[in-house]
Amino acid sequence: MDTIGQLKSQVIREVEATSSLQELEEVRVKALGKKGHLTLLMKDLGQKTPEERKTLGAELNVLKDALTQALDLKKVKLETETINAKLGKETLDITLPPRPDQKGIVHPLSHALDEVIRIFGQMGFVVAEGPDIEEDFFNFTALNFPPEHPARQEHDTFYMPPSPDGQPLLLRTHTSPVQIRTMTAGEPPIRIISTGRTYRSDYDATHSPMFHQIEVLVVDTKTHMGHLKGCIEEFCRLFFEDPNLKLRFRPGFFPFTEPSAEVDIMWKDGKWLEILGCGMVHPNVLRNCNIDPDKYQGFAVGMGLDRVTMLKYGIDDLRLFYETDLRWLNHYGFTPEARG
Ligand code: DAH
Repeated sequence: MDTIGQLKSQVIREVEATSSLQELEEVRVKALGKKGHLTLLMKDLGQKTPEERKTLGAELNVLKDALTQALDLKKVKLETETINAKLGKETLDITLPPRPDQKGIVHPLSHALDEVIRIFGQMGFVVAEGPDIEEDFFNFTALNFPPEHPARQEHDTFYMPPSPDGQPLLLRTHTSPVQIRTMTAGEPPIRIISTGRTYRSDYDATHSPMFHQIEVLVVDTKTHMGHLKGCIEEFCRLFFEDPNLKLRFRPGFFPFTEPSAEVDIMWKDGKWLEILGCGMVHPNVLRNCNIDPDKYQGFAVGMGLDRVTMLKYGIDDLRLFYETDLRWLNHYGFTPEARG
C-alpha cells in the first residue's frame, strides 16, 4: 500500500475514534501540525524531481483536503454532542410554582370617591380643588365666621405657623374654602364639586384627625331650595343604589348658609342617619366674593366621604380606613374587574 493511502486511512480511523475535541485536536496536530506526517511529506517534496513533485504534490494536496474535511466534520459533530449534553444537563425547571400574582386593590374610599364624582359629573358638575394648608381667611373669615365666633372653636383646628406675608395658616377643617376660591376666581354660573382631605383634632371610632369631605356649590340666577333638595335626593338615591331612599331635611346652622339644613337618610334598620349639611349660600359669603346677592343665589352641600362610604359598605370603624391592613383591604377593597 502506498504511503499516501496508508496515511489517509490511518488518520481517518483516528479521527473516527476520537470522542472529545481535545483528542481530535491531537490527531490534527499529528497529521497536519508543524511536524505532522503530512506536513513532513510536503516538506520532502523539495528533494524530489520536478516530475515527481508534480504528481506527488497534487496527491498530497488532495489528501490534505480530505483530512481537513474529515477533521472539520468530526469537529462539528463533537461540538453538537457537547452542546446537546450541556442542554440535557441544564434544562429549565418549569415545574416551579409561578410567583403569586400581585394585583392592586382599590381602597373603598377611592372607589366611593370615583362613584361620587361620576354621579355629579353626570349632573354637569366639574371638579374644583384647593390646598390642604389653607389661609384662615378662606377657611373661616370669608365663609362668614366672625372673628371670635364659637364655631371656629368647634372645628378643633390644627394651626400652622403663619405664611411669610403674615397670613394665619391652618390645615383646612372642611372643603368649604374651595367655595370661596372658586367664587373669587370665576364668574357664575358655577357648578362644582370638590373632594379631598380635611383635618380636625379628633379621634375615635367615627372621627379621624384626617378625613375626607365632598363639597358641592351651585351659583346661578334663580337658584332656590328646590334645586338643592332635588340635587341631594338624586345623588343619595344613585349613590346608595336605592330609588326609594327616604330623606329628611332638618333645620340646621352653618355660618355660610341661610337657611341651613341637615339631611338624614332612613337606613335599613329604620333609623335616621345624618349624612350631610347644606343650605342656600349666605348673602355675606357672596358679597365676600364680589358676587351680587340680589342677582345671584347659590346652594352648597358638605358631606363626609368617610361616613357615606362606611354606610354604603357596612364598615363600622372609621379608623380601619387608615390602618393599611392588607387583609382588611383585600376584603373591603375593589378589584379593577369589580369596578366595571
Ligand atoms: N363645612 C361644613 C362642615 O364641615 C359642612 C357643610 C355644611 C358644607 C353646609 C356646606 C354646607 O357646603 O352648605 O361642618
